[in-house]
This record gives sequence, structure tokens and C-alpha cells, in this order.
Amino acid sequence: MIPILYLLAQISCLFLIILFAVFYLWANTFGVPFVPSDRRIVNNMVNFLKKTKVKKVAELGAGDGRVAFALAREGFEVLAVEVNPLLSLWMRLVKFVRRYNKVEIENKDLFKVDIKGIDAIIVYLYPEHLEKLEERFFKEMPSGSYILSNTFTFKNHKPIENTGKLYIYQVAK
Ligand SMILES: C[S@@+](CC[C@H](N)C(=O)[O-])C[C@H]1O[C@@H](n2cnc3c(N)ncnc32)[C@H](O)[C@@H]1O
Repeated sequence: MIPILYLLAQISCLFLIILFAVFYLWANTFGVPFVPSDRRIVNNMVNFLKKTKVKKVAELGAGDGRVAFALAREGFEVLAVEVNPLLSLWMRLVKFVRRYNKVEIENKDLFKVDIKGIDAIIVYLYPEHLEKLEERFFKEMPSGSYILSNTFTFKNHKPIENTGKLYIYQVAK
């Protein structure tokens, strides 16, 4: 009995080490670690979008899906893109258990995502990532669409609104 418990403990430790390694590897490979948005920012994002005509939102780098699921609860269609396979798996589990049918989850690099048909984008990424995305967002997104960024700002565009750490941009009409 004792050797079996010992073996189970060893397997659990190994599993935890592998989980940690995967997290660490993904965070370092893609340069942005998982830091969840706090509840106030999530509420501000949702409340802002509720005042607009936005229907489909893409969250690029969705983490554990807290923003995506909060939006789905308010009736938005959401594309949640996350490169970390463990976080993507977690989102799939939450989606399945809580029946969030309006959330589509893609486990891929956000730089390869098709943003056609999206009328708002949510990001919480480092400035160097925003710099790479800025031109594409402001060229490819439909006029009047929105980009909501937690904490970090774009270099060449001015936000139309700024509440605390939330910066809101609108593609020129
Ligand atoms: C600061 S966290 C924000 C998580 C979530 N958006 C939130 O506000 O709670 C950034 C997330 O982006 C993901 N990420 C980083 N680089 C990525 C990439 N190239 N493609 C997709 N996701 C990426 C990270 O794995 C992490 O979960």
C-alpha cells in the first residue's frame, strides 16, 4: 500500500513540474506572461461595450477567459485567442461546464488570427506587441470599431477614452 502511495506522490510531483514547465515555456517563448485583468477593469470593459453597437469581440491573449466569459454573459459573441495550451484547455473546460456557447476558443498565436468581422478587440499585452499590431488593427478593422487595451498604449494613436488603466481606441469613421 505504502509503495503505491509513494508512487502516486511521485507521479503527482512530476505532473506539477511538467505543468509549471509548460506555463514557464509558453510565457517566455511568447513574451507575455499570464497576468489576469482585475475585476474593475473587466467591468469597465464590459460596461463600455454595452453602450456600443458591438456584437463580436476578439480577445487576443485571453488567459483564463475571465474577460471573454464576462462578455459572453452579456450576450456578446467572443473569439478568445490564447497561445498557452493549458489556459486554452482551462477555457474549454469552463465553456463546456458553464455552457458559454457564444465563446469560440482558438489555441493559436494572436499574430496569425483573422480579425475580419470583429468589431472590438481586447488586449492586455506589452508595448512591443502593441507596436507590431497597431498598423494592422487600424488598417484592417472596420471604421468605428474599438480596441480596448489594459494598461499599455499604442504609439501613434490617441485613446478616445481612458478610465484608470483602461485605454479605449476607435478606428477612424
Ligand atoms: C497579461 S495576460 C492577459 C490575460 C487576459 N487577457 C486578461 O486580461 O485577464 C496576456 C495573455 O496573452 C497570452 N499571449 C501572449 N502572447 C501571445 C500570443 N502570441 N498569442 C496568443 N496569446 C498570447 C499569454 O499567454 C497570456 O495569457
